[in-house]
Amino acid sequence: MASIKKRDVVRLILGERFGRMPVKFCSTAYAPANIALCKYWGKRNEELNLPITASLSVSLGALGTTTKVCLSTVARDEVILNDQPVPVRSKFTKALSTYLNLFRPSPTVFFRIETRNTVPTAAGMASSASGFAALVFALDDLFGWGLSKRHQSILARLGSGSACRSVYEGFVEWEAGADEDGMDSYAVPVPGVWPELRIGVLTISEDQKPISSREAMKRTRRTSSFYEAWPVKVAHDLELIKSAIDARDFELLGRTAESNALAMHATGLAAWPPVLFWYPQSVAVMHDIWALRDAGLPLYFTMDAGPNVKLLFAADNEKDVLAAFPAVTLVAPFAEKRFGPLGAAAPTGC
Ligand code: DP6
Repeated sequence: MASIKKRDVVRLILGERFGRMPVKFCSTAYAPANIALCKYWGKRNEELNLPITASLSVSLGALGTTTKVCLSTVARDEVILNDQPVPVRSKFTKALSTYLNLFRPSPTVFFRIETRNTVPTAAGMASSASGFAALVFALDDLFGWGLSKRHQSILARLGSGSACRSVYEGFVEWEAGADEDGMDSYAVPVPGVWPELRIGVLTISEDQKPISSREAMKRTRRTSSFYEAWPVKVAHDLELIKSAIDARDFELLGRTAESNALAMHATGLAAWPPVLFWYPQSVAVMHDIWALRDAGLPLYFTMDAGPNVKLLFAADNEKDVLAAFPAVTLVAPFAEKRFGPLGAAAPTGC
């Protein structure tokens, strides 16, 4: 059987709506960034970003992406990122145009994408998850598709796996699914709010990553003998994190998230060529965290495919954490007011 392409999935989701023209000229939407407490690491299908395992994240409230999509008045896609036009030949514009091809009603229809991240660039946090989720919300509104959250999540996944979790606020689980076309692989909200939960982002470096998360997880899955242990670890950690959320057991949440992140990075170490995202300063911060914890401060961390460290702690300990790490960017995922409504906003008068 021929392998299923992204466009086949879009066709399945849109049905008769596939190929129809937009019903509006412009639409604006917001989606939050997210940080995985139990990571997505390894795909069973690289074309469709279908994961080997489920994963669980927390969305970052006011930190995310607002995207305005309009029909372009020039004969090409235009991209404006944080008020700066992005060159047509850049990797960023090309990746966006390739994604937009999935929805273009005809080869002569082009889009103008204005995207703004409230995720501080200096914090070194990935904005592709919030970016693709916001884009899907805006396209849904522009074309008048009226999609379900499930379908929005699937379309965001086609852009970047972790984006499928950014269609919700709060705790979110991405169900791995088993279907070949991935129609059972989407995010669902995990019940539970935790207003005291705090995340601190410590920027170690703003350098361009030497290897993307996409390449790193591919290499790890193919070459790391440790990868075999990963799905077993995830199954266990997912249960622990869910029970920690249920019981508001911060130590269990922190311990499990930290151990999960370290295990993910360990699979990369056993890959060839090896995948190591840490800088010496990342390791120094880990030692500082462990020393503070030994001294009685309930502080944990998680790390994604880069050198920056994300601290996990409770509001009670905010002062102590800030004293130890004055440069930290603070996030209160359940306490902050969002930058805008999740999903498409009211018409912008464009
Ligand atoms: C380490 O979602 O960026 O942040 O699906 O190839 O676009 P693609 O990968 P991406 O990978 C995220 C990896 C991670 C873990 C996570 O967010 O779960």
